[in-house]
Amino acid sequence: MSCLCKTTFQDIEANRQTEVFVAQLYLLDHPEVCRGKTVLDLGCGCGASSIAAKLSSAAHVVANDIDTEAGQLILEEKELNTSFCVKVAAVATHMNSELNGLEPPVCLTDNMIGSQPEGFDLILLGDMFYDEALATSLHSWLDCCIENHGTKVLIGDPGRAQFEEHGIRRLLRQLAQFELPESVRAENYGLTCSSVWCYRPEL
Ligand SMILES: C[S@@+](CC[C@H](N)C(=O)[O-])C[C@H]1O[C@@H](n2cnc3c(N)ncnc32)[C@H](O)[C@@H]1O
Repeated sequence: MSCLCKTTFQDIEANRQTEVFVAQLYLLDHPEVCRGKTVLDLGCGCGASSIAAKLSSAAHVVANDIDTEAGQLILEEKELNTSFCVKVAAVATHMNSELNGLEPPVCLTDNMIGSQPEGFDLILLGDMFYDEALATSLHSWLDCCIENHGTKVLIGDPGRAQFEEHGIRRLLRQLAQFELPESVRAENYGLTCSSVWCYRPEL
């Protein structure tokens, strides 16, 4: 997972000075954004945005990530080959929800991009524009969600080139900017800050 997040984290409130989950920090600072809303955290990773949404009294939260580790369990003595699949993001999201004293969100592992959009009030995308093809398919799908349901879309991004150079970038309004801690800068090609954006296709 080529992201700025750690796959595990603990108490989101206690760690807010050192962590880099910018969309999550924004949500905690603005609980009205999620309050009473049906929220989709697409590409949830370890579930930080989902947890922030739950802490902000969202009515319903769905955490979606296709991140699975497939493997082969070979039961040689029985001459059976059994495949197994660990839902990494879902497991991390469950563990982190519990660490934050919350019921885990609904966790889905199917690819929702391009699917018939459901009626989410809010879609959260944390560091999902790291690949040009992914960014382009997301852009079209977000337009469908907005057209069909008036969904609000918030994007957190540390200013990756694939994001800065993508067509969606000029349709975004910046809501907040956060400095990245030194340790995170060093590990991420000198990226210095991360922003939260609202997608406004009518711009
Ligand atoms: C860079 S990580 C960001 C994780 C988290 N949102 C955050 O802010 O820290 C990107 C995540 O997107 C997931 N992902 C990639 N393509 C996806 C897709 N089509 N649907 C759902 N998740 C996807 C990856 O598995 C990975 O966990």
